[in-house]
Amino acid sequence: MPQPPRKRPNFQGGKKPWEAKDSRGPGKGPFPPRSGPKPAARKGGGHGQEQGWDQVAGWYDKLVGDKGSDYHRNVILPAALRLLAPGAGEKVLDLCCGQGVLVPLLLEAKVAGVTAVDASPRLIESAKRRFENEKRVNFLVADACAPGPWADGSHDAAACIMAVHDVPDLPAMAKQTAAALKPGGRFVAIFMHPCFRIPQQSHWGWDEGRKLQFRRVDRYAVPQEIPIVTHPGQGGGDTTTFYHRPVGQVLTAFGQAGLGVTVCEELFSHRRSQPGPRAKGENRAVQEFPVFMAILCEKK
Ligand SMILES: C[S@@+](CC[C@H](N)C(=O)[O-])C[C@H]1O[C@@H](n2cnc3c(N)ncnc32)[C@H](O)[C@@H]1O
Repeated sequence: MPQPPRKRPNFQGGKKPWEAKDSRGPGKGPFPPRSGPKPAARKGGGHGQEQGWDQVAGWYDKLVGDKGSDYHRNVILPAALRLLAPGAGEKVLDLCCGQGVLVPLLLEAKVAGVTAVDASPRLIESAKRRFENEKRVNFLVADACAPGPWADGSHDAAACIMAVHDVPDLPAMAKQTAAALKPGGRFVAIFMHPCFRIPQQSHWGWDEGRKLQFRRVDRYAVPQEIPIVTHPGQGGGDTTTFYHRPVGQVLTAFGQAGLGVTVCEELFSHRRSQPGPRAKGENRAVQEFPVFMAILCEKK
């Protein structure tokens, strides 16, 4: 797979990547810098732990909090719950669970058990602190792309929220997800829209003549590893990696693993511009260009 040269991103105006209006959309974005150093164990051929996320765990935990980021609360979690439809007594896998933002919703749905897996020990620690008296949740520090105890065919449903673009080997993750599910099991993934939300390669622009906000996409078809710097203004900072893949490659990874897509939804921002000369054009744009893609799959 061709990889672009790793270069330091140039965030305009010294803004953090998730604040750069023309790279991630209006206002603050919900998700941290992605990318940076590759997982250490990959040197040995495995996927290892995502060191980038462990480094930014404190920051991410604070950003997401107990109820989720703004995008989690308004767009991502409602869609995840609607598509996954967790049922009472079910066993659910939360892959790349982070600090556990989905877990309370699963518990409220009265599931019998949650297996919550993430590569970052510090994020799993935060999650454990949040749910320390909850016997129904089993937290595991593990690589979602490698075989693990959770890939045991015992789960009724599985979810991967905002992490499809954070794993280095999507076909491997899809294979392990399928292995975790019972036949007919459901899988929901929600991720940055591969067509319109490519860090550093997609931007908002303003057409003064037509008074409209447009979305510009500079690169799309070639998969890319895009380094995202957490604190660009503070001497380099921590990084994580965003693995951009064109949409066909994402859907094929799941399909080839035996996870047939039954629903594909494109999710739009809930945010609206303040009144002003550009408000109409900006609000039209956020209703035209989706931020996230959500898929519901069924295990064959
Ligand atoms: C943007 S966060 C999303 C976390 C959570 N699902 C949420 O919505 O808040 C991406 C997560 O993917 C995890 N991750 C990245 N690569 C991973 C891997 N190979 N195996 C397991 N987790 C991984 C990171 O540790 C991080 O918690």
